[in-house]
Amino acid sequence: MQSSSHSSPTPDTLVLELTAAQALTPEVRRLQLRRPDGQRLPAFTAGAHIRVHIPGAGAEPTRCYSLVNSDGDGLIYEIAVKRECAGRGGSQFMHQLAIGQQILVTPPKNDFALHKPPHEALLIAGGIGITPILSMTRHLQATNRPYALHYGARSAAFMPYLQEIEALAGSRAQLYFDDGNPSRGMPLASLLGAPKTSRHVYVCGPRALIDATLAQALHLGWPRSQIHFELFSAPATTAADRGTTIDLARSGRQIDVPAGTSMLDGLIAAGCDPLFDCRRGECGMCAVHMLDGEVEHRDYALSDEQHSEGLVCICVARARSNRITLDL
Ligand code: FES
Repeated sequence: MQSSSHSSPTPDTLVLELTAAQALTPEVRRLQLRRPDGQRLPAFTAGAHIRVHIPGAGAEPTRCYSLVNSDGDGLIYEIAVKRECAGRGGSQFMHQLAIGQQILVTPPKNDFALHKPPHEALLIAGGIGITPILSMTRHLQATNRPYALHYGARSAAFMPYLQEIEALAGSRAQLYFDDGNPSRGMPLASLLGAPKTSRHVYVCGPRALIDATLAQALHLGWPRSQIHFELFSAPATTAADRGTTIDLARSGRQIDVPAGTSMLDGLIAAGCDPLFDCRRGECGMCAVHMLDGEVEHRDYALSDEQHSEGLVCICVARARSNRITLDL
């Protein structure tokens, strides 16, 4: 998993050194990071991520990367970064990082943890989304817990950690190659099957895979509480996105938000201090009441009922009216 976020160095920010790197596929680079003094790193659990500070990245100074390894001896954080040629420079920086170079990293945080046992884990990964799923696989294998792994990519050549997966999971791993044609992807309906109270689903990969898995699971009757996912990034801007003016009901302020900018970013740029965390529509931390206006909801945090009551996750919702009034 990789995504971007606002964050400034804090007293617990770690200085880490790149000690090993390797090309896993034509697009993905594996990086191993250690403390320069060789001391232990803060512990983490499967599914955790770190934030790397990207020098000169301006308003989006950090990128989040899932930890791939298991905590082990506590000396290494391993991440894998897919080069995004159309990105904002974070992946290019990580691909150019030289052995011995030092970077600033926040301690691990886990928004995608495995549910407490006992339960069976159904793991679904697409492409670089394998990174937290591999950490989970390692943990489940080491603790002898039941799981099945379904992993898809364009082809074997574009599948990071393929050999590790085959060696680790053996027949518990099922591989899928779509040759770039999503219609030839995973048979989600059959691999999900009927819901079981003893089974939880964990999915990480492109938004299309997460949306399809979520839709199929809900269609099959799975409770939302048994489906866990982590996104690469916030949703992309679409042609329907438009600028809007936000009226803040409590302060009386008016803030213009251009097309392609989230309401959250518009408020921050105007000097407001809204609550937020994930910036991907997953945590619900940024939800506010909309008193007037129209939006397209793109979050996974709120229910349809909460949307109809006027709650809006302003990190991902996009305006569908020229003015929007928020209860702020
Ligand atoms: S900040 Fe997490 S849903 Fe908006």
